[in-house]
Amino acid sequence: MEVVIAAPDELARLAADAVERLLVARPDAVLGLATGSSPQLVYDELARRHAERGLSFAGARAFLLDEYVGLPADHPQRYRNVIGADLVSRVDLPPGAVHGPDGLAVDLEAACAAYEAAIARAGGVDLQLLGIGTDGHVAFNEPGSSLASRTRIKTLTRQTRQDNARFFGDDADAVPRRCLTQGLGTISAARHLVLLATGVGKAQAVRQLVEGPVSARWPATVLQLHPHVTVLVDEQAASLL
Ligand code: GLP
Repeated sequence: MEVVIAAPDELARLAADAVERLLVARPDAVLGLATGSSPQLVYDELARRHAERGLSFAGARAFLLDEYVGLPADHPQRYRNVIGADLVSRVDLPPGAVHGPDGLAVDLEAACAAYEAAIARAGGVDLQLLGIGTDGHVAFNEPGSSLASRTRIKTLTRQTRQDNARFFGDDADAVPRRCLTQGLGTISAARHLVLLATGVGKAQAVRQLVEGPVSARWPATVLQLHPHVTVLVDEQAASLL
């Protein structure tokens, strides 16, 4: 595990460098995209590189980590729409090449299985961007998640719904109760994991991620078992290391 401590804009450049190197080497790369505030600066940087020097996503494919269950198709917080606004609409990644778990499926379990199959058909994820929750969750794998888990239905914790209330008019009750999420086993199958964390609120989770024992109590600790992980943190998130 490589840990880099730097200012947020530098972290974003480093993450964008990794994406750019991959796309130059392999224009049809499979990207794993995260939502949330942590990757925002990375998407800004990628959009800038696309506009200014033609970094192209035209041949790439992308898979989202997770999705809320039941949000209407046009809801701005549906992760498909979030990533559309944050990245896809700003670069030349074809919208049809962006995949996410179907949180509106009638048969949610079948949707999870179909999503795993789609990732496998694409050849797996080359580079997975990740954030981390204050309780150490990655994607929506809350504490207690099996380290070997695959895409499945999960119930969000009160903590995560409170953390995400800011995207729903500061109303935790407006945050959906359930989600579909790639499992920790699914995420661990990606060839390179790049995790970003900023702010003092993430300090305890980052400490566990880097120094804690591998345990479902802190789901992100599964990254310690992966051969190629880059952890990008600012001074505040690194303050308990
Ligand atoms: C959300 C997302 C995660 C994200 C995390 C942290 O619940 N499902 O993928 O990494 O919370 O979010 P943020 O980056 O906004 O702090």
